[in-house]
Amino acid sequence: MSCLPGLGPWLVLLLALLSCLVAADCECGFVQDLPPAEGAGGKDGSADGRLLFTNMMESKFFELRNISRDGNWKRQQYNVSARAGRGEYGKAFAVQNVYTVAADGHGESVDDADAGPGEGIALVVGSTLVDDEAVPVAELASARKDMFFGSYRAGMKLTPVNGTCAAFFWYFNDTQEIDMEFLSREFDASKKLYPVNLVIQSEASRQAGYDASKTGTFKVVNLTFDPTEGFHEYRFDYLHNRVLFYADSKLLAEMNGTSVPSGPGHVILQHWSNGNSKWSGGPPKQDAVMTVSYVKAYFNSSDAQLQSTFAEACQKARDDDADSGGNGRVCRIPDVTASNASTGGTFFNTSDPNQPSSSGGGGADDSGSDSSAVHLSSTPTMAAVLLSMVVLMVYS
Ligand SMILES: *[C@@H]1O[C@H](CO)[C@@H](O)[C@H](O)[C@H]1NC(C)=O
Ligand SMILES: *[C@@H]1O[C@H](CO)[C@@H](O)[C@H](O)[C@H]1NC(C)=O
Ligand SMILES: *[C@@H]1O[C@H](CO)[C@@H](O)[C@H](O)[C@H]1NC(C)=O
Ligand SMILES: *[C@@H]1O[C@H](CO)[C@@H](O)[C@H](O)[C@H]1NC(C)=O
Ligand SMILES: *[C@@H]1O[C@H](CO)[C@@H](O)[C@H](O)[C@H]1NC(C)=O
Ligand SMILES: *[C@@H]1O[C@H](CO)[C@@H](O)[C@H](O)[C@H]1NC(C)=O
Ligand SMILES: *[C@@H]1O[C@H](CO)[C@@H](O)[C@H](O)[C@H]1NC(C)=O
Ligand SMILES: *[C@@H]1O[C@H](CO)[C@@H](O)[C@H](O)[C@H]1NC(C)=O
Ligand SMILES: *[C@@H]1O[C@H](CO)[C@@H](O)[C@H](O)[C@H]1NC(C)=O
Repeated sequence: MSCLPGLGPWLVLLLALLSCLVAADCECGFVQDLPPAEGAGGKDGSADGRLLFTNMMESKFFELRNISRDGNWKRQQYNVSARAGRGEYGKAFAVQNVYTVAADGHGESVDDADAGPGEGIALVVGSTLVDDEAVPVAELASARKDMFFGSYRAGMKLTPVNGTCAAFFWYFNDTQEIDMEFLSREFDASKKLYPVNLVIQSEASRQAGYDASKTGTFKVVNLTFDPTEGFHEYRFDYLHNRVLFYADSKLLAEMNGTSVPSGPGHVILQHWSNGNSKWSGGPPKQDAVMTVSYVKAYFNSSDAQLQSTFAEACQKARDDDADSGGNGRVCRIPDVTASNASTGGTFFNTSDPNQPSSSGGGGADDSGSDSSAVHLSSTPTMAAVLLSMVVLMVYS
């Protein structure tokens, strides 16, 4: 090895990059407690009643000034016909229906570099039809599609305007989908009635014409608060043969069995209406806004490259810690309550969402303590850099 010419400088660079990797705190992943269940033992990723996830994606929408700068999320633009969507009207998903809102703004578009911190991202369902046939609707989807077992959390404030469906969901395809859906037509302030529809779409629900209520994987749960008054955290934990649904860290329901998906997918926020009186109702008589203050996702990636990068980074951190006997490389995920759902409380990712994401150098441009765990999403670039360096070393 040592006789290879030109190796020295590369080795120095490699070591420098590796030391960037270990600057972060959560190299050995993220843990949370698991509610106990019969028959659950190890198979669902739990050990000692704890769940471990290797990756994270945290988005502080309340601090973001321009959504198009966040490379982790893509605003969607596509049309669905009335027939294809099983509605009375079509749906016109357009990027202008997804934008950042200022703290005092009521559905007012900001997307402005000079704006101060806001409430989050607005997803709007418009009251004026497009070409007399489609409702203007909104979708924001995660760019990455490697999100497997995980805990998926969003701070949201829903619309009181009758006639929309607000959804926070995980999606692979129409028969592998985990959904929290809020129908504003079901919200009845006079009775303090605020239901949430919890759904897993599966092969069984496809056979029932995508009516999950005819399967065991549809539950309606009454929320104990008004979801249109303020921000609350909605969450689902997608595990092996098991899905747990939460609001403000309180368990709402559990579904288990063969309908639970078994592969990777992505996370989506959606606000829509198509006039179907049995579901979304509407279209709304006035523009309806749902606001998302943040998303926190802790999950295992299906990407083999990311899995091995994680294993190596964790091993390296453990080795470094060996003399201090450190067990500090695993980060415990804190719960969010109604008191901190508007900003999500503590984040592991402390980077400024208004700075462009680093490219090429992985987390290397984030200086020191400010970069806790940032590298976890940048590992593809980091891995690519390391790989190309290894190739260069071999051929130099
Ligand atoms: C996530 O992956 C890690 C590392 O492979 C594993 O130990 C853990 O059990 C997995 N977690 C779940 C919930 O499957
Ligand atoms: C959706 O339909 C509208 C109205 O027909 C049209 O203006 C728009 O370009 C379409 N958008 C896409 C993405 O096809
Ligand atoms: C938001 O960012 C995009 C991409 O950088 C840019 O094209 C757009 O003009 C920005 N919008 C505002 C209002 O600054
Ligand atoms: C979804 O994906 C699964 C696994 O690839 C497949 O078996 C199923 O048929 C797909 N469903 C749809 C509606 O395409
Ligand atoms: C919403 O509108 C529908 C259709 O007009 C109506 O049946 C329903 O009662 C309304 N919901 C509430 C909570 O007012
Ligand atoms: C929700 O509240 C309504 C009205 O009080 C009641 O009819 C319904 O059974 C409740 N649902 C559940 C799941 O408790
Ligand atoms: C399956 O879910 C039900 C609640 O819907 C729960 O009572 C039961 O313990 C769960 N079973 C397993 C094996 O997790
Ligand atoms: C949210 O606030 C609660 C106290 O209400 C606290 O225990 C928790 O750690 C906070 N969560 C986060 C993510 O900061
Ligand atoms: C951390 O936040 C920055 C800025 O918003 C973002 O670019 C990066 O992807 C985030 N990293 C993770 C792991 O969530």
